[in-house]
Amino acid sequence: MKKIFILKASKAKTSNDFSLNDLPGDGGRMDIVARCVNSAFFLSHDLRRDTEFIVVLEGEPNPPVTLRFIGNELKYLSPDERCIGGLIKKALEKQSEKETESTPGIFVSRKSFSQVLDEVGGEIIYLHEDGEDIEKISIQSEKIVFVLGDHLGLSSEDESLLKDAKRVSISPMVLHADHCIIIVHNVFDRKNL
Ligand SMILES: C[S@@+](CC[C@H](N)C(=O)[O-])C[C@H]1O[C@@H](n2cnc3c(N)ncnc32)[C@H](O)[C@@H]1O
Repeated sequence: MKKIFILKASKAKTSNDFSLNDLPGDGGRMDIVARCVNSAFFLSHDLRRDTEFIVVLEGEPNPPVTLRFIGNELKYLSPDERCIGGLIKKALEKQSEKETESTPGIFVSRKSFSQVLDEVGGEIIYLHEDGEDIEKISIQSEKIVFVLGDHLGLSSEDESLLKDAKRVSISPMVLHADHCIIIVHNVFDRKNL
């Protein structure tokens, strides 16, 4: 089964002039993006090759910018936030109208959140604490797409784009986006999916 995680990062910088020493402030919460990349891909001494991670950056000065990370093509990625932040900076240097590969397995484009949702395909699940319990849902597709908000969550306008998606909860508590990704992987790992 292929898993795709889509994060909407409403304040994350869309130019490369942020400091790797200040991903939360200067980067517009780019630390959240970096941690989500880590959670989407890293196993101990290996990567989850069957996973993709897409982030739509909507911060200043040039939104939107979309980055796609493809598990089975990734190179030069290590788990620490500075390394991931550095690859994000490289991708932001290379942005153009046409989707471009910045480093192996990382692609940059000017797609919006709504374009990404239109194009992604598969079964779309909106992760939300008020949804149906993930242990009780039935999965029909070989490609599942999980959509998450950042520290601000998704706006009602964003949610209207997800009106046909299943709303699924993984905990009664409100969790950090990167922790949600780990839990989703764990649920599917335990079912051998
Ligand atoms: C830090 S939370 C967002 C908190 C934000 N203040 C809000 O109220 O929406 C980040 C994202 O993780 C996901 N999330 C958090 N807790 C969850 C839960 N219990 N079940 C499913 N998804 C969850 C949601 O997609 C959420 O937008």
